[in-house]
Amino acid sequence: MDKLYVTGPVQLQGEVEISSAKNATLPILAATILCPYPVEFVGIPDLMDVSTILKLLQSMGIKFSRNDSMTVLDATELTSQHADYSLVKTMRASVLVLGPLLARYGVASVSLPGGCAIGARPVDIHLSGLEKMGAIIEIENGYIKARCDKLKGAVVTFPFPSVGATENIMMAAVLAEGETIIENAAMEPEIDDLADFLIAQGVKIQGAGTSRITIQGMKISELKASKTPYRVIGDRIEAATFIIAAIMTKGKVKVSGFRPHHLEFVLDVLKKMGAQFEIGENFIQVLPSQSLKGAMVETLPFPGFPTDIQAQMMALMSLVDGNSIMTETIFENRFMHVPEMLRMGAKIQLKGNAALIEGVESLSGAPVMCTDLRASAALILCALVASGTTEIQRVYHLDRGYEKIDEKLTNLGAKIQRVKG
Ligand code: UD1
Repeated sequence: MDKLYVTGPVQLQGEVEISSAKNATLPILAATILCPYPVEFVGIPDLMDVSTILKLLQSMGIKFSRNDSMTVLDATELTSQHADYSLVKTMRASVLVLGPLLARYGVASVSLPGGCAIGARPVDIHLSGLEKMGAIIEIENGYIKARCDKLKGAVVTFPFPSVGATENIMMAAVLAEGETIIENAAMEPEIDDLADFLIAQGVKIQGAGTSRITIQGMKISELKASKTPYRVIGDRIEAATFIIAAIMTKGKVKVSGFRPHHLEFVLDVLKKMGAQFEIGENFIQVLPSQSLKGAMVETLPFPGFPTDIQAQMMALMSLVDGNSIMTETIFENRFMHVPEMLRMGAKIQLKGNAALIEGVESLSGAPVMCTDLRASAALILCALVASGTTEIQRVYHLDRGYEKIDEKLTNLGAKIQRVKG
């Protein structure tokens, strides 16, 4: 297992280009199951989660080729509608193949993803949505066994705006008979991007990015390959991580290649804390800010504060003047970075789903362990400003979702060494 050695404190300077969003890439790659022709992409990020979904798609017979600039997926013919436990267990988002498989083939067998480090994360909302569209679903030997003659358009009302369930039902609805309306849909920018990809294949979708999405079902023969390769949106979570890194290190960093309006709520919080930045159409220029104050933040579905930026924000809150409160409402066990941050000198108390953070003057390097993707990002942020060297273990969590993060940070002046293991 690789380790990172990060020596601080440093001040980041320069420009960083954000990669395409992991959380938009995964559903969009799953959506190629619907398309009986080769689909071209540019800028698919080189991430472990992307490799996992590509392996899964290949295991179903999808042909795949990739060179420096272009990735092509060809689902003209699938040989299997089975998503094996060995691949699904390493990445929950694998369950996103369920909707498109069922819509195209009327059958799918997808391993239940099970829990993960940050919480139980069931898929009941995905399944009841598909059942509403006529699917018959049974759980057998740890697998979701789904079948249908033909999915039928329906009004699917979610009890909670689940991101993955919205994506699964949107994809299923593309080849269903008639119109599907998703009520209380998730509004995350990644949903919008999936809709844009489907629209580029000729699908009629309205309302993506709002809580009510309407999809007109069509025949598979009516789908058509887009003339231009698809580029997935920039990763707002990666962008926020670099913006926070710049603020924490009092650096001057231009973070480019994403849409700042996807981070409106986060930028608002940062501004209120005293951070200084200029906002361009597709970049944020972070300027050094000398003093920052605490904040009260609660994670919520989009457009609220993203749970995927909670840990990184807590890293910043650990070093501001005064106290902060971070409340996590999306996942039940998403404070695993806290014990690691305490080892570096942060002062945090956990009370139920809230963290009380007392700003400290400085942090110090220590051996720490990554527990999940965003927790790992928070530890790197702390390590950039801590005095001395931080040894970060289990970096594979980070590699799931941050493309070349050590290289990108090194280019900005960080002192990072990766030791392969
Ligand atoms: C997606 C993101 C993840 C992000 C999360 C919330 C991807 C690949 N992952 O995950 O990075 O942290 O959105 O913004 O895009 N739930 C149920 N039943 C369900 C589905 C969800 O109870 O059927 C619960 C979950 O356990 C969780 C909450 O709803 O507590 C949010 O989950 P959801 O929005 O579905 O997140 P994901 O799509 O798994």
